[in-house]
Formats: sequence, C-alpha cells, structure tokens
Amino acid sequence: MRRLLGAALLAAGLLAGCHSHDHEHAEVPEHHADRESPFGPDDAEAQAAGQAIYDAQCATCHGVEGMGDGELAASLDPVPSDFTMGHADSWTDPYLYYRIADGPDGGPDGTSMPAFADTLSEAEIWQVIAYSRTLAGQ
Ligand code: HEC
Repeated sequence: MRRLLGAALLAAGLLAGCHSHDHEHAEVPEHHADRESPFGPDDAEAQAAGQAIYDAQCATCHGVEGMGDGELAASLDPVPSDFTMGHADSWTDPYLYYRIADGPDGGPDGTSMPAFADTLSEAEIWQVIAYSRTLAGQ
C-alpha cells in the first residue's frame, strides 16, 4: 500500500511537472478545437449509454472504476491513464474528444491507447466522455 501511494504521488508529481512544461498533454489539433459535448453534465441517459460503451471498450485497460487498473494494464507501457487522478484542468471537451477519436496520435509515442474515430460514432464518443467524467468525479 505504501508503495502504491508512493507511485501515485510520483505520478501526480510527474503530471504536475508535465503541465508546467506542457509536453505530456498534446495540443488539440485544429479539426477538434471547437468540439463541444451535446450532453449536459447531468444527462443520466448519455452517461448510461456511455457506461455500456466504456465497459465493453475501455475497462480492459482503464479499469471498471477508471483507475487505470484493467486486466491488460499491467502489460502496457505506458500504463493506461487513471481517470480519478485530478484531470479537471486538462479534461476539456476538445481534448477528450481528440484523445479518444485519434488515439495514439495525441498521446506520448508508442502508447496503446486506440483510436476510436472509426469504431464509435460522434454521439457515442460524447456518451463515453460523459461517463468517463463521472468516473473522474467531474
Ligand atoms: C488497449 C488499452 C486501452 C484501451 C482499450 C483504451 N485505452 Fe485509453 N489509454 C490507454 C493508455 C495506455 C493511455 C495512456 C497513454 C496515452 O495518453 O496515450 C490512455 C489514455 C487515455 C486518455 C487520455 C487521458 C489523459 O488524461 O490524458 C483518455 C481520455 C482515454 N484513454 C480514454 C479512453 C476511452 C474512453 C476508451 C474506450 C472508448 C479507452 N481509453 C480505451 C490505453 C487504452
């Protein structure tokens, strides 16, 4: 447990460092810059639809609770993002849409985050974003 906490603190420190140096969170490309969710923060229907997508397509890596501990997580480098670790500032609509639609193109080199632009519709991407925000406590 203590080691886990240490790892969490280290990761938090790294993230904070990355924010100040502005290289971990890739800049949102122009074609996604104006994206805006059609769903409000309390849209339970969108969240429920998003949960079905999340459980089927995201949980194996990001974990059922979004903590980055899905069954594949241990074999991945870098590990899947922990949604519960203070993303409030960076998790804008354009950023999330971009990362989920474009996948590894928006992440650090060589990440296993898939691109979902061809497998999920726009509405489905917004639904899974709505649900991811609930996992992140947003
Ligand atoms: C095969 C494993 C895998 C699957 C499946 C997967 N991801 Fe990821 N995801 C990752 C990894 C690894 C990262 C961290 C590296 C990166 O940023 O690219 C990541 C990063 C992310 C990020 C960026 C988080 C941040 O704060 O910068 C978001 C958002 C995300 N994933 C959402 C999703 C959603 C939503 C799904 C399902 C529709 C999904 N992922 C499916 C592996 C996966």
